[in-house]
Amino acid sequence: MQTIFSGIQPSGTLTLGNYLGAMKHFVDMQEEYDCYFCIVDEHAITVPQDRLELRKNIRSLAAIYLASGIDADRSTLFIQSEVAAHTQLGWMLQCVSYIGELERMTQFKDKSASGGKEGVSSGLLTYPPLMAADILLYQTDIVPVGEDQKQHLELTRNLAQRFNNKYNDIFTIPEVRIPKVGARIMSLQDPTKKMSKSDENQKASIFMLDDEKKIMKKVKSAVTDSEGIVKYDKENKPGVSNLLTIHSICSGVSIEELEQRYEGKGYGDFKQGVAESIISVLKPIQDRYHELIDSEELDDILDQGADKASFEAQKMLRKAKKAMGLGRVKKKK
Ligand code: TYM
Repeated sequence: MQTIFSGIQPSGTLTLGNYLGAMKHFVDMQEEYDCYFCIVDEHAITVPQDRLELRKNIRSLAAIYLASGIDADRSTLFIQSEVAAHTQLGWMLQCVSYIGELERMTQFKDKSASGGKEGVSSGLLTYPPLMAADILLYQTDIVPVGEDQKQHLELTRNLAQRFNNKYNDIFTIPEVRIPKVGARIMSLQDPTKKMSKSDENQKASIFMLDDEKKIMKKVKSAVTDSEGIVKYDKENKPGVSNLLTIHSICSGVSIEELEQRYEGKGYGDFKQGVAESIISVLKPIQDRYHELIDSEELDDILDQGADKASFEAQKMLRKAKKAMGLGRVKKKK
C-alpha cells in the first residue's frame, strides 16, 4: 500500500481554501492509502504566535481533521512537536540544503518582504527542509497539497535525491498531488490573491467555523464585476470564476451546469446559491467539531497517533543518522 503524508499549520482557523485544496482530498484518500496527517505546529512558530492561541489552534485543527472525516482507525493523526524525529531529521536536511535555494522559495520571499532580513526569523528560511523531513520520515509516496506548496515539494524531491546520492539511497522520492479543481481558492475581496488564514481582512476568507450568517454575509460582499453574467473566465472574471469553483466543489455540480442554472439571473441569486452550498458542506463538520473539541477521545487519538508516527519515524531517523555517520557504533565486548 502506498503512503500519503500531508500537514496543515495551526496558525489560525482553517479557511475554506485549506479545506477544498487539501483536507477534503485527504478524506477521500484514506480508503486507498496508508495516511499520515500532521498538525505542523513547529512550522507555525516560524512567525510570532501567541502561546495560548497556538495551543487552542492545535487542538482545534485536530478536531477539524476528525470532524471533516479523517478516520483515526485508518489514518495516523498527530502533532509534529510530539514526534521528535521531525526536527532531528529537519536539522540534518538543513545541512544538505543551500542558502541560495532556500532564499528562492516564493513563500519566504513573500513573507520576508515586509519585515526585511532583520525582522524575520531564520526559521522562516529553513522551514522547507523541516517540511522535507516531515515527508521523508514516512517513506511517503504521495503528498496531497494545494498549489502554493508545489515549490516546497520540488525542493523536498531535490533534497531527497541529493541525500540519496551523497550518502545512501534511503529516501523514497515523493510525488506531489494537486487537485485539478480548487487547488487555489482565491480571496473573496481580491480574487487575484489566494484565500489565506492570515489575511487581515476578515471578509476575504471563509473560515471553517464561520456560522451561516457570516458565510452568507461574506459571500454576498464578495468582489465580482459589473457584467452580471455568471460565466467561468479566470482572466477577465476572476471573482465570479472563484465563486463558481467553490460552488461546484461544494455542491458536486459541474461548472457548465452551474453556468446554465444561473443564465439570465443576477449575481444576487448566484451568491445565495454559493453561500448555501458552502453551508451544506461546513454545517455537518461544525456540528461534529463541537462534539469533539473538549472530548477525551480527541486526546486518545492524538496520543495513539504520536506513538505510531514516532515508531515509524525512528526507523527512518536511525537510517539517516547511520548514512551521515552521526553517533557511534558500539564496540563488541
Ligand atoms: P498551510 O497550512 O498553509 O496550508 C494547508 C494546506 O492547504 C492548502 N491551501 C490552499 N489550497 C487551495 N486554496 C487556497 N487558498 C489554499 N491555502 C492553503 C495548502 O496548499 C496546503 O496543502 N507548508 C505547509 C504545511 C506542511 C506540509 C508538510 C504539507 C508542513 N509540512 C508536509 C505537506 C507535507 C503549509 O504551510 O500549509
